[in-house]
Amino acid sequence: MTEGGGAVVPGPGNQRALRDAFGRFATGVTVVTAAGSLGPVGITANSFASVSLDPPLLLWAPARASRRFPPFAVAEAFAVHVLGADQSDLGRRFAAAGGDWAGLAPEVGPEGVPLLAGALARFECTTEARHPAGDHLIIIGRIRRFAQRPGPPLLFAGGCYGGFALP
Ligand SMILES: Cc1cc2nc3c(=O)[nH]c(=O)nc-3n(C[C@H](O)[C@H](O)[C@H](O)COP(=O)(O)O)c2cc1C
Repeated sequence: MTEGGGAVVPGPGNQRALRDAFGRFATGVTVVTAAGSLGPVGITANSFASVSLDPPLLLWAPARASRRFPPFAVAEAFAVHVLGADQSDLGRRFAAAGGDWAGLAPEVGPEGVPLLAGALARFECTTEARHPAGDHLIIIGRIRRFAQRPGPPLLFAGGCYGGFALP
């Protein structure tokens, strides 16, 4: 399908269109954190998915092209923070180059992972498996601890942040 509805075969010449098509799928927004060898690392990610209740598993997928890929690819522990509607500043901060921690004073979890306060939900994980997947790496985490609070989620669709409204 193009804008008009015709189907397109994915290829090098239309990656932007494929990206836009993926962007039609509205997602929540997370910040994934880990302890890098040079200090805490954080990245905004919407590739998060719940996977299994028993055992408790989740996944996310860092892009190989990201400058933050190396520390996340080797991390044996990480945390996923699901952002609330009032946390788009954190989403923007950790989508920007470098993912600056200035002024954030993270807590440190038992596995050494930097933890951000105030997320709608937080999942502290150890790395269970890594699966190569094209230009991304799928990382499966086993959830060791989780926390949550009520509140509206931050959403992302069509390249924009937004909020949830009942139909
Ligand atoms: C809403 C949103 C979701 C994103 N999801 C992912 C993701 O799942 N995986 C990923 O590697 N990068 C994702 N990114 C991109 C990174 O947050 C970041 O912008 C990118 O890694 C920047 O490259 P750098 O690490 O080289 O500075 C997302 C960005 C936004 C705004």
